[in-house]
Amino acid sequence: MRAVLVPVCLLLVSPISTLSWASSVDLVLNIKQMCKPAKRSSSRIAKICNNRPGLLEQMAIGVNLALTQCQYQFRYRRWNCTNSSRSIKKVMSKDTRETGFVNAIIAAGITYQVTRACTKGEQIGCSCNKRKKKNKKKKPTEVSPETDFKWDGCAENIDFGIKRSKDFLEGRHKKKRSDMNTLVKSHNYVAGRLAIKNYMRKECKCHGLSGSCALRTCIRKMPAFREVGDRLKERFDGAAKVIPGNDGQSFIPEGDTIKPPTRFDLVYSEESPSFCLPDSSVGSFGTQGRECNETSPGEEGCGILCCGRGFQVQTKEVEHSCNCEFVYCCNVTCQVCNETVKVATCQ
Ligand SMILES: *[C@@H]1O[C@H](CO)[C@@H](O)[C@H](O)[C@H]1NC(C)=O
Ligand SMILES: *[C@@H]1O[C@H](CO)[C@@H](O)[C@H](O)[C@H]1NC(C)=O
Ligand SMILES: *[C@@H]1O[C@H](CO)[C@@H](O)[C@H](O)[C@H]1NC(C)=O
Ligand SMILES: *[C@@H]1O[C@H](CO)[C@@H](O)[C@H](O)[C@H]1NC(C)=O
Ligand SMILES: *[C@@H]1O[C@H](CO)[C@@H](O)[C@H](O)[C@H]1NC(C)=O
Repeated sequence: MRAVLVPVCLLLVSPISTLSWASSVDLVLNIKQMCKPAKRSSSRIAKICNNRPGLLEQMAIGVNLALTQCQYQFRYRRWNCTNSSRSIKKVMSKDTRETGFVNAIIAAGITYQVTRACTKGEQIGCSCNKRKKKNKKKKPTEVSPETDFKWDGCAENIDFGIKRSKDFLEGRHKKKRSDMNTLVKSHNYVAGRLAIKNYMRKECKCHGLSGSCALRTCIRKMPAFREVGDRLKERFDGAAKVIPGNDGQSFIPEGDTIKPPTRFDLVYSEESPSFCLPDSSVGSFGTQGRECNETSPGEEGCGILCCGRGFQVQTKEVEHSCNCEFVYCCNVTCQVCNETVKVATCQ
């Protein structure tokens, strides 16, 4: 179906479209491998490898940032974002809620790391973003201390990060493909990038004699990546299931009562497996042996996490510092004590 939709002429301008789905997942999960000569299946990648090895390096760091954040966000869920390639490749080849989250956070991770590297002055082909007095649009009479500031020379160049993330994940020549998976994937990529771009914050400094704020300069900074992860996790919980629209070029929410997803929302088209039992065909390891929370009624509670199979409670010794004493001058010495804690794990 996909091959039918790719016009032959596109193969000439956009080599990425010749990559199978499986190898484009490889590309994302194994960016650095892609620079090995034998693997240069795409001239676009070869070009990045030759001209900007530093950029590819940053993208690889970005993917790791994303997967680490994914594991943090899902540490108490049935699906815990295990990065074992057996599992994540399966998840990425579907179109479930989990797929949507992974795609969004990877697009965000690449955007974030490339932007950050640019700010740090890494040689990855970017310049710092000079915002030329955008705040001067206001009429002078409207100027109040709140709005009276100058943008500082170098702001975080989020647009550069977004562009590189797009180039890499979607290809420079945007394909006119409109199969459901591609539409959903592009939507979630955008949602991932917006979870950064829309939450840039302004950080200002005052300059002037004796603390007066005669001149205020501001820069725009990205939120912490943990915040980006938290936000996307919320979108995951509220993700909308979509079905193909009548025009074949778009999707619509499944069910009349569901409001259409915005650009910030995550979407998916396929129901998730339960992830309760090991099933390699869907990338599930099952939840046996996973730590659960006895008292929580939520997803991380033993009831839901263990899928009703029950759990066992064991005790474990955990070391922590205790009996701390102040030693003159300027030191604190502590002993190491053991504390017995109960740990519940799924059966
Ligand atoms: C998977 O995660 C482990 C530790 O969390 C890390 O050492 C490893 O490099 C990761 N693998 C990939 C492909 O990201
Ligand atoms: C995820 O769960 C599996 C078992 O279901 C476990 O082997 C693995 O260590 C867990 N990974 C993380 C990152 O917690
Ligand atoms: C378990 O869940 C309860 C209720 O949600 C929460 O207060 C507690 O902090 C959780 N314990 C752990 C170890 O996460
Ligand atoms: C503080 O205590 C530590 C450990 O006992 C020791 O290594 C360190 O030199 C001490 N520092 C000072 C300033 O006494
Ligand atoms: C704490 O427990 C561990 C394992 O049970 C043991 O090896 C260790 O010596 C204990 N530490 C202390 C300070 O009692």
